[in-house]
Amino acid sequence: MKIITPSSEEDFLLYYELRWKILRKPWNQPLGSERDNLDNTGYHVMVCENDRIPIGIGRLHFNNTHEAQIRYMAVDEEYQGKGVGTLVINALEKYAKDQGAHYIMLNARENAVPFYQKNGYNIQEKSYLLFDDIQHFKMKKLLKNLSGKSYILTFFCRFFINNKNIM
Ligand SMILES: CC(C)(COP(=O)(O)OP(=O)(O)OC[C@H]1O[C@@H](n2cnc3c(N)ncnc32)[C@H](O)[C@@H]1OP(=O)(O)O)[C@@H](O)C(=O)NCCC(=O)NCCS
Repeated sequence: MKIITPSSEEDFLLYYELRWKILRKPWNQPLGSERDNLDNTGYHVMVCENDRIPIGIGRLHFNNTHEAQIRYMAVDEEYQGKGVGTLVINALEKYAKDQGAHYIMLNARENAVPFYQKNGYNIQEKSYLLFDDIQHFKMKKLLKNLSGKSYILTFFCRFFINNKNIM
């Protein structure tokens, strides 16, 4: 198996086809509904068994300089539960770290929560319901341990923000 970033038009066609097949088609969503306007700037990963045919995919984008977000993780049905999703998420996390992200957040489908927990993500809160059916949970994983000085500074900034009305 190899882990690559899609680059050609053909790569992206197969990449979006798998995204649609796993994340949209079962809910009768049309072709095209699997894409969003961050796809042009996001970082994409695909795991391929042979040639450049993806069996597992995922995307990472930045919400700000510290916060990266993972979306559209999907593994072809016959390959689920064989470590492919872990290869994808590891590659996305490595990229996020290399780019200086402090943490990664994501909205996990309820069925995928155990997968993300195994990969070190913690539930923050219940988030939205997709297609009136799929409950999502906001999850987060810290990538960096803050140094002692940064930790104290962060603590006082948070304290000040939370208590500015009474100071
Ligand atoms: C969720 C998904 C991306 C995980 O990828 P995967 O290749 O199946 O996962 P892996 O084989 O790498 O699993 C890693 C670990 O998580 C566990 N795991 C994965 N999916 C799980 C699930 N649904 N329930 C419980 N445990 C799960 C595996 O058992 C494995 O544990 P182990 O290390 O103790 O053996 C994939 O199953 C998928 O595409 N599901 C359908 C689409 C989806 O829900 N995408 C997520 C959108 S938020």
